[in-house]
Amino acid sequence: MKSITITRPDDWHLHVRDHKFISSILPDTTKRFARAIIMPNLSDPITTTALAADYRARILMAIPTGHKFEPLMTLYLTNQTNGDEIKRAKESGFIHGVKWYPAGATTNSDKGVSDIATCYGALAVMQDVGMPLLIHGEVTDIDVDIFDREEKFIERFLGKIISDFPNLKIVFEHITTEQAIKFVENSGPNVAATITAHHMLLNRNALFKGGIRPHHYCLPVLKREHHRKALVKAATSGNKKFFLGTDSAPHTEHAKETACGCAGIYTSHGGIEFYAEIFDKANALDKLEAFASFNGADFYGLQRNSDQIILTKKQTKIPPSIAFGDESCIPFRASECLEWAID
Ligand code: DOR
Ligand code: ZN
Repeated sequence: MKSITITRPDDWHLHVRDHKFISSILPDTTKRFARAIIMPNLSDPITTTALAADYRARILMAIPTGHKFEPLMTLYLTNQTNGDEIKRAKESGFIHGVKWYPAGATTNSDKGVSDIATCYGALAVMQDVGMPLLIHGEVTDIDVDIFDREEKFIERFLGKIISDFPNLKIVFEHITTEQAIKFVENSGPNVAATITAHHMLLNRNALFKGGIRPHHYCLPVLKREHHRKALVKAATSGNKKFFLGTDSAPHTEHAKETACGCAGIYTSHGGIEFYAEIFDKANALDKLEAFASFNGADFYGLQRNSDQIILTKKQTKIPPSIAFGDESCIPFRASECLEWAID
């Protein structure tokens, strides 16, 4: 049986939700990953260091006994975020990034940024203290086609941010297009990107295969096949600017299977296994460790993990649903198989 040993990976983009929901899903992450960047888009978003401290405590409480895990907290940028809040975040030692959600771009983004110019004071301090800006890079204009929102965001915002803050560390989150890959490749070493497994496993046809598929709906939305292939190529290229971020984003079955379903795909139950499958199919298993376990830590200026995990090519069944608080969540590839297993 094919098997590889790699340094324990980290998940550089994760949604663990809050309260009773955390403990249902966190074990899937802590079984695989040593650390995860925790997204701040709760219904009451994590806009201050004090809120992040409380949220972090709730996450720590949900770590299963015997698992070692460090939640790397983030702040949610708003038009009101100021430089002092950024300094407090940096001094806390547990906040590792500030997330820019354009207002209206995705789940719980209503309180996000409607005018990035109002955040320039905060961005200046972030640049000074080395606090990364994590970007949901999609424009929200109703007249921009949903499949073009990432490309338009690059054109309208990213060039300007980089010229105004040339030393700001930026993670372009969950990139989905050839344009985003090129942008990151052509930028300086302070610009990197996360890539999800679902954007590398599916193209946009998966949204409509035999009928509408709410469990394949996420944001940024799945793209055309040539973009999917380009993402696999970038992730498996060995370029240090690209690293693992699952963007695992659970919603209740009910919230997905409704007239106006939420965006988000739950993948933490195969958080590293889906990537092993992708890298194996691309004949690039030798590149998996850097992508999953080195590049993100190096970019964030954190130590690489020292323990290891073993991945084996062996099929295991994925359940039709998982418990999620008092409700259920349909995991990615429900009732089908994981192609790789973690020991
Ligand atoms: O699909 C997504 N789900 N994309 C996001 O940007 C947010 C996430 C969520 O929180 O559900
Ligand atoms: Zn996300």
